[in-house]
Amino acid sequence: MLVYGQEILNKANKEGYGVGAFNFVNFEMINAIFVAANEANSPIFVQASEGAIKYMGIDMAVSMVKTMCKRYPHIPVALHLDHGTSFDSCKKAVEAGFTSVMIDASHHPFDENLTETYKVVQMAHENGVGVEAELGRLMGIEDNISVDEKDAVLVNPKEAERFVKESKVDYLAPAIGTSHGAFKFKGEPKLDFERLKLVKELTKVPLVLHGASAIPDYVRASFQESGGDIGSSKGVPFSFLQEAVKGGINKVNTDTDLRIAFIAEVRKLANKDKGQFDLRKFFAPGMEAMSKVIVERMKILGSSNKI
Ligand code: G3H
Ligand code: 13P
Ligand code: ZN
Repeated sequence: MLVYGQEILNKANKEGYGVGAFNFVNFEMINAIFVAANEANSPIFVQASEGAIKYMGIDMAVSMVKTMCKRYPHIPVALHLDHGTSFDSCKKAVEAGFTSVMIDASHHPFDENLTETYKVVQMAHENGVGVEAELGRLMGIEDNISVDEKDAVLVNPKEAERFVKESKVDYLAPAIGTSHGAFKFKGEPKLDFERLKLVKELTKVPLVLHGASAIPDYVRASFQESGGDIGSSKGVPFSFLQEAVKGGINKVNTDTDLRIAFIAEVRKLANKDKGQFDLRKFFAPGMEAMSKVIVERMKILGSSNKI
């Protein structure tokens, strides 16, 4: 059942678990996410970036999710705009039927981010839709980073408190040292859990972890085995994801892991069966590999059997 984002995240916040927010760009990805949620008996966020919306068409994105919701009516599903870059983009998503939007004005100065977020919150709340915003910059923190440099990049907990209070945003993504993609850390993985806990204490709202792909060893190995090259990739370890959930993270954004798991299967078949051109033969194993990663992630985050 399609529900507003706050409904899923307020429950997760109260009960202390994380809900995976999985990106999709086509039928295969959305199908794999729902199949996994059904198997794990877990609520889900399904999210489309502006690029994904451009690729699918917003009408197609919404109707695929609604069709899946009819197929699996017992699963609570929020359809979320990932990294909305403007008020107009968020408004279009709300009008098209999204039940949650992110306004990402985090690259602007604090006051501008606050003003833009407040505007989106007013519009979205008139329609019941939940809003996510971001504070700080998404980038890895090196071991030798100075306190000042760290403060310039990561979320400022006091600012987070003021931001949530004044913008009335429903959930917040605080930068604590993650980044998007497959190469998150140069040395040992490192996240600022102390800062996260402080943000939670001061805001109490559901918090969001961007750049949360883990790149488990078996997923990297499968990609390498297929002839791909992400040997030096590094994701957020499972133990870190669990510590982040303990520290107050309730929405866990995951895209890269799904892409890698899927494409590894496509490339394997392309190498093995040079005469093959039936799309289904490539995509079915891709979907299966993706679903496996998602079911495992739901267990790790604690959202399995939370329906
Ligand atoms: O955070 C970004 C997501 O992984 C979506 O990426 O803009 O390539 O669709 P995209
Ligand atoms: P990953 O690149 O770690 O999967 O992060 C995805 C994300 O944050 C989408 O908003
Ligand atoms: Zn993100």
